[in-house]
Amino acid sequence: MIKEIKNNILYFDGCNTVELAEKYGTPLYVMSETAIVEKCKEIRDTFLNKYERTRAAYAAKAFLTLSMCRIIEREGLCLDVVSGGELYTAIKANFPAEKIEFNGNNKSIGELELAIDYNIGRIIVDGLDELDIIEGICKKKGKKTNILYRITPGVKSDSHDYIVTGKKDSKFGIPLDDEVIFPAIEKAINSPHINFMGFHFHVGSQLLNNESHLKALGTALKLIKDIIDKYNYVTPELNIGGGFGIKYTDDDDKKSYAYFLDPMMERIEEFSKEMNITRPEIVIEPGRSIVGESGITLYTIGTIKDIKGIRKYVSVDGGMTDNIRPALYQAKYEGIVANKADMAKTDLVTISGKCCESGDILIKDAHIAIAERGDIFAVFSTGAYGYSMASNYNKNPVPATVLVKDGKSEIIVKRQTYDHMIANEVIPESLK
Ligand code: LLP
Repeated sequence: MIKEIKNNILYFDGCNTVELAEKYGTPLYVMSETAIVEKCKEIRDTFLNKYERTRAAYAAKAFLTLSMCRIIEREGLCLDVVSGGELYTAIKANFPAEKIEFNGNNKSIGELELAIDYNIGRIIVDGLDELDIIEGICKKKGKKTNILYRITPGVKSDSHDYIVTGKKDSKFGIPLDDEVIFPAIEKAINSPHINFMGFHFHVGSQLLNNESHLKALGTALKLIKDIIDKYNYVTPELNIGGGFGIKYTDDDDKKSYAYFLDPMMERIEEFSKEMNITRPEIVIEPGRSIVGESGITLYTIGTIKDIKGIRKYVSVDGGMTDNIRPALYQAKYEGIVANKADMAKTDLVTISGKCCESGDILIKDAHIAIAERGDIFAVFSTGAYGYSMASNYNKNPVPATVLVKDGKSEIIVKRQTYDHMIANEVIPESLK
């Protein structure tokens, strides 16, 4: 059990969360190595080891640190990066270049050069001019790069509008208009500097049903068939993205990897038989589902304001700077008073952050134990898109992250200091 309650205290991966808060300070991101490893094992058991010629590239954007690169490598996964910064982190962690894939709708020339210099495994090309840039770089450097085209499958998925990516009106992917996609494919097939591996799609994030994945797959398979018919070219790979939802609250009907992947694999196998081709290598890009439930955030409770008959605000020492998701997507979370974990949840409160924004609310209408200043509040399922989307708004430092495992804790990201925050600021002569 990753989460346990003993003597009225919340334990996370064997660690007493109140002691963690005392030792490392709050706000504090706590990541369970055991939970991350279990998720990776689930991916190996239900996908990588079950189906031959498959890869899982962890979507680094969910949570990336040097230590996370080490865990991902050790657990046999590849890495999907979307920026020079993520790629740099992977390089610094000595992550094997051939296991890195590079996504993104507007990669800079510098980022592409870094990727090509490092000989990364795949570049997922998101627009037509990007292919020209890659070709130019490869020509100059005498290299050949493996690419996939990210297509816009034109499906609408059931998630917050900001995190759906597969619909036709999207900044992501190449639209499937015949006069756009076919010349692009022809160009990639014929380029001496490009290994054209196939297609990629990603329909959205935090998905709790497989409908849009299956629809997008249908579109991708049709395209693969068209390419065989038109150019007699069999694309050796297909990347079906990530987006597998997790449980934030009891309302989330989370599904297994198998629920998403088995029907897709079945269709791909059938298709390959019908077409009499070797099934393409299948790649997935899970992010949130590996780290989301593997992390919690610990806060210290400060001011409590009871506006009689209206609302009781319980403020914590972090908020939208360490977790923007409630403010940005109206995302829902659950949490408990970590040092009163056994107590009846008799109070109905709103957990608010400390930023100067009325929208800085972490949990609206939370049923919690009666809280006082100094109590520790734990918010669950914050491992994905918390640290990675943290900001310095109001000049709040980015919290520390500790990695916990079987009762042991180690710091993997130090708390940002005030000095750190102003380190890049300069007073020009004119103001001295
Ligand atoms: N692959 C691609 C190409 C993606 O764009 C994404 C997420 C993923 C994989 C990983 O998706 P996941 O398995 O984590 O759902 N900040 C938002 C999520 C944005 C996701 C963007 N792309 C949030 O906090 O919900």
